[in-house]
Amino acid sequence: MADELKRGLEGVLVAESDLSYVDGEVGKLVYRGYDIEDLARGASYEEVLYLLWHGSLPTAAELDSFVADLAAEREVNDGVIETVRALADAGERPMAALRTATSMLSAYDPDNEGDDDGATLRQGRRITAKIPTVLAAFERVRQGEEPVAPDPDLSHAGNFLYMLTGTEPDAVSEETFDMALTLHADHGLNASTFTAMVIGSTMADVYSSVTGGIGALSGSLHGGANQDVMEVLHDIDDSSKDPVQWVKDTRDDGGRIPGFGHRVYKVKDPRANILEEKLRDLAESSGDTKWLDYTTAIEEYLTDQGLVEKGIAPNVDFYSGSVYDSLGIPVDMYTPIFAMSRVGGWIAHVAEYQEDNRLIRPRARYTGPEDAAFVPLDER
Ligand code: ACO
Repeated sequence: MADELKRGLEGVLVAESDLSYVDGEVGKLVYRGYDIEDLARGASYEEVLYLLWHGSLPTAAELDSFVADLAAEREVNDGVIETVRALADAGERPMAALRTATSMLSAYDPDNEGDDDGATLRQGRRITAKIPTVLAAFERVRQGEEPVAPDPDLSHAGNFLYMLTGTEPDAVSEETFDMALTLHADHGLNASTFTAMVIGSTMADVYSSVTGGIGALSGSLHGGANQDVMEVLHDIDDSSKDPVQWVKDTRDDGGRIPGFGHRVYKVKDPRANILEEKLRDLAESSGDTKWLDYTTAIEEYLTDQGLVEKGIAPNVDFYSGSVYDSLGIPVDMYTPIFAMSRVGGWIAHVAEYQEDNRLIRPRARYTGPEDAAFVPLDER
């Protein structure tokens, strides 16, 4: 048993956590016992952050002071903005730009030597507050516009949309975006969270954990899938292809359908259900049902084909892209937005793990040669 090899660590328990629970058989997700649906509909992203970081939902007074502390940390140093400009000029991809700029934020942290018990959450709060500012600045600069300074009177969600567009968002857009942030905030020991924990288990600072988490999230098997889904939908639209035909062609070529399948969920992801409903509302109120029609056609076809029954069902990424598109957010910003939300979960898991830390250090089964006779360089 001790030597049993679990590829991809599938099913391996490596820690205890009070933070979130995913029941992949019935399609349930809870944060500290609260159903994701109740939180998505009833709580703001800031309340969810408080819940994850401090263990319980805040009272009104606790929330006021938490929101004010977070909002007070939104500005980033000019040096970071200059780097963001250089990255945009070089044509860097948004997730890579975010990874570089997040790492750089530590240079300006007032307690970057902090290694006391509270350092992870203190520095984590600053990172969480500043990531939206970095992302919005990057997007504006590459569009040839000047960054917009954060507005401390707006919510985390509302302020990001404001910094992106320069205009205060309407209530529906702010609420929709806030809901998307809540839905992505935590999800057990997914690849990026585990990456952050591995780094945190060495007692490296939380900037290193978040930077590593961003790197892990950028891959197409993880956070990159929401962008892939939207690119497919655009492709279908641009080529006037039938969405079902696109799926047939992709499967005939042995390709995967982005936004379908999940390591843990064997039924439809509960977050996908909530976002699908949101997409339906947005499509009905705008009268533009294009993305809804395509996604519905794909899902119905794959359900008829028995794929969903086999456990390859829509995941959160299948719908998030269409929702972001309806908010006017560019496609390659979807994964960075995922990072902007998931940073809350990364920090919570690192802080929780460090309370009873043990260096994470697994082993590989050695399959290389044994007893190789060394040959000096000049004899090879
Ligand atoms: N389309 C078609 N077939 C699929 C898909 C898919 N999207 N996903 C899995 N399968 C099939 C595989 O081909 C495989 O079939 P086989 O046994 O006949 O070879 C079987 O299902 C199992 O697939 P694995 O890759 O072994 O399952 P794993 O648990 O490693 O995969 C993953 C999970 C990586 C998410 C996979 O479903 C996938 O690639 N999905 C598309 C990308 C995606 O949507 N990623 C987002 C995940 S959610 C998130 O990160 C927020």
